[in-house]
Amino acid sequence: MTDSQPVAFPPALADLAAVTERLAAAGCVAADEEAGELLTAAGGDPGRLEALVSRREGGEPLAWITGWVAFGPTRVQVEAGVYVPRAQTAALAERAAKLLPPNGLAVDLCTGSGAIAVAIGNSRPDARVVGTDIDPLACRCAAANGVEVYEGHLADPLPAAVAGACDVVVGVVPYVPTDAIEYLPRDARDHEPRLALDGGPSGVRLLVAAVRAAGALLRPGGTLLLELGGDQDRELAEPLAAAGFGTARRHVDEDGDLRGLEARRLTGRGRRR
Ligand SMILES: C[S@@+](CC[C@H](N)C(=O)[O-])C[C@H]1O[C@@H](n2cnc3c(N)ncnc32)[C@H](O)[C@@H]1O
Repeated sequence: MTDSQPVAFPPALADLAAVTERLAAAGCVAADEEAGELLTAAGGDPGRLEALVSRREGGEPLAWITGWVAFGPTRVQVEAGVYVPRAQTAALAERAAKLLPPNGLAVDLCTGSGAIAVAIGNSRPDARVVGTDIDPLACRCAAANGVEVYEGHLADPLPAAVAGACDVVVGVVPYVPTDAIEYLPRDARDHEPRLALDGGPSGVRLLVAAVRAAGALLRPGGTLLLELGGDQDRELAEPLAAAGFGTARRHVDEDGDLRGLEARRLTGRGRRR
């Protein structure tokens, strides 16, 4: 073979290289991995592959196009229009599963696709895990993932028997400050529903409401786990105390940035009136 002869790649490999190149040009960071997923999703149909690649080039979240996302060791179905569970949230689900007593009861507020509920249920099959979401599309997606889900605002739609009986309440509620939404990555900013992201002026509107709801849901000694960021924990100190929680523990990432908050509901005597 001389230098001038074209190298004949097997068709699949040629597609992989071509799709990777298109996705990289469209700004996809993990273009090669994404190209592999789109090729698998296309199932060898060139017309379908073109349609899927075009959608990704247009910025649609990969999970909406393939229909699933990896969440820790779990694979979760994600319908187009539903918030895509983030990899870093899996640690919160793991912590929730660890905190549950045998045959415990957990509530996942704002469950979205149900990823957290699914992950808890997979590692703790003895537990009952219940989710809520205000978005009917998210509820349908969570149900398709096998979650016992109720549609409505935070804890409002839950069965009455759940109140005061929960061991763990976990929530990834919308917590992005309204003005910060424009700085999110394109997939989220231009495609994910505002309802899933917008936490109001400082991002804590639903966090505060979730603290209040969790105060009524948890048994004394039960634990609340919330995802949040920046210095949002400061704005939650007073609502946590008022709802009967003890001093919260901050969860930080490897850079020291705030990622989560864990607070225990006090038993009778420690409670503030
Ligand atoms: C940031 S997403 C989190 C979804 C899921 N927990 C996850 O981590 O993948 C927030 C979710 O809250 C839902 N939501 C927004 N406002 C709500 C409310 N007032 N009550 C219940 N759910 C709400 C949205 O529909 C969205 O699915």
